[in-house]
Amino acid sequence: MTKGFIEVAVNGLIERMFQKRNGLTNLEIIRTENLRFQYLSQNEEPEPAPKPAGAPKRAKTKPADAQNQPAAANAPAPSASSKPAAAQNQPAAAYAPAPSAAPPAAAPEPDALRDAPLALDDINIKIEKGEFVAILGHNGSGKSTLAKHMNALLQPTGGTIWVSGLDTRIEENVWPVRKTAGMVFQNPDNQLVATVVEEDVAFGPENLGVPPKEIRRRVDAALERVSMYGCRQSAPHMLSGGQKQRVAIAGILAMKPECIVLDEPTAMLDPLGRKEVMDTVTSLNREENITVIHITHFMEEAVLAGRVIVMEDGRIALEGTPREVFSQVERMRALGLDVPQMTELAHYLREKGLHVPQSIISIEEMADALCELR
Ligand SMILES: Nc1ncnc2c1ncn2[C@@H]1O[C@H](COP(=O)(O)OP(=O)(O)OP(=O)(O)O)[C@@H](O)[C@H]1O
Ligand SMILES: [Mg+2]
Repeated sequence: MTKGFIEVAVNGLIERMFQKRNGLTNLEIIRTENLRFQYLSQNEEPEPAPKPAGAPKRAKTKPADAQNQPAAANAPAPSASSKPAAAQNQPAAAYAPAPSAAPPAAAPEPDALRDAPLALDDINIKIEKGEFVAILGHNGSGKSTLAKHMNALLQPTGGTIWVSGLDTRIEENVWPVRKTAGMVFQNPDNQLVATVVEEDVAFGPENLGVPPKEIRRRVDAALERVSMYGCRQSAPHMLSGGQKQRVAIAGILAMKPECIVLDEPTAMLDPLGRKEVMDTVTSLNREENITVIHITHFMEEAVLAGRVIVMEDGRIALEGTPREVFSQVERMRALGLDVPQMTELAHYLREKGLHVPQSIISIEEMADALCELR
C-alpha cells in the first residue's frame, strides 16, 4: 500500500483528563490509571521495523518545561540521565504507554472511563512530503495531542501513525521518527538550554552521534539558514522571542529533518517575531521541501499553508485549501474560530449587498475585488 509521508489513522487515543478520581486533583491526574485507551482491530500489519539508527555516544535530554511541553521531543529516547519533569507537569512521554518492539496489545479499559470523550477520535490524515499543513482548532480540540503523536511523544492506542513509513509504536522507530519530524513548541524560553546559541543548536546532532566536524558544519549551516549566524556566540536569554524560536528551528535543522511540527511557535511573539518565524518556516518549506505541520491560532498564518485542517473535539471538522476552509465563515464561527481579516471583510461586504467574492483571503485579493466594483 502506498503511504503518505505522514499518515495518521487513529480512532480513540488518550481520554481527556477531566475526572477527579481517587482523590487526585486535575493536575495530578496525568497517570496511566486515569487514561482510557481504546483499541481497534487492525487489518494491516505494521511495516517491518527498520534497523535502528546508531545509538548516540552521549544521550542528553533537554529538561521538560513548565508548560507540559516535553523538550525531549527532539531528543530521542534518552539512555542517560535527564532532569526530572516539574512535579505537576509530567512530559507527555510520561503518560504515554511505553513503546515496545511490537505494537502494544490492548489494555483493559476502566469501567468508570468507558464513556469519557476521546482526545482524538476517527482521525485519518495523509500528509505528503513537502506539504505545508496548518492545523487549527479551539483550545482543547486535540491539536497538540495530534502533533505529539507525529513525533512519537504519544503512542496511539488505536490505529497507527506512520512517519516516513515508520510505525511510531515500534520502539526501534522512535529515534528515527523524532529525527525525521522535529518539534518546535510554543515557549521559546523552554526550548533552549545551553548558555551559548551554537551549543544549543549542536545539542541535537550531538545526541545523534554526529562527528564533531560535521556538527560544526551543520550548526553553522542551520544558523545561516535561519539568519542567526551572527548571534552564534550570544547567550540565548539575550535574544528576542522570535530569535529564540529561530534558534530552536536551527536546532532541529541541524538534525536534518524531513519534517518540522510546530505547535503554536508564534503564540508568544510580537508581530515582528511572528513574521520572522513564519518567513523562516515558509522558506524552509518552499526552498528545502521540508514538510511543515504548523499549529496556530493565527488565521493569517494558516493562509500560508497549502492545506488547512480544523479540529473540534478530537475530530476533523473541516479540511481543504485555506480558501475552501475560510470561505465557510459561519461554520468557522460556529467552531469558535475566526477567519482571516480580509475574508471577514468580504463576508461583511457581501451581507451589505456588495458583490465581492467570499473566497478572498488576502489584502491583494480584496484590493482587486474592490477595484472591480467601480
Ligand atoms: N496529559 C493528558 N492526559 C489526558 N488528557 C489530556 C492530557 N493533555 C491534554 N489532554 C486533553 O486532551 C484534549 C486535547 O488537548 P490538546 O492539548 O491536544 O488541545 P489543543 O487543541 O492543543 O489545545 P490548545 O489550543 O489549548 O493548545 C483536551 O481535552 C485536554 O484536556
Ligand atoms: Mg495545544
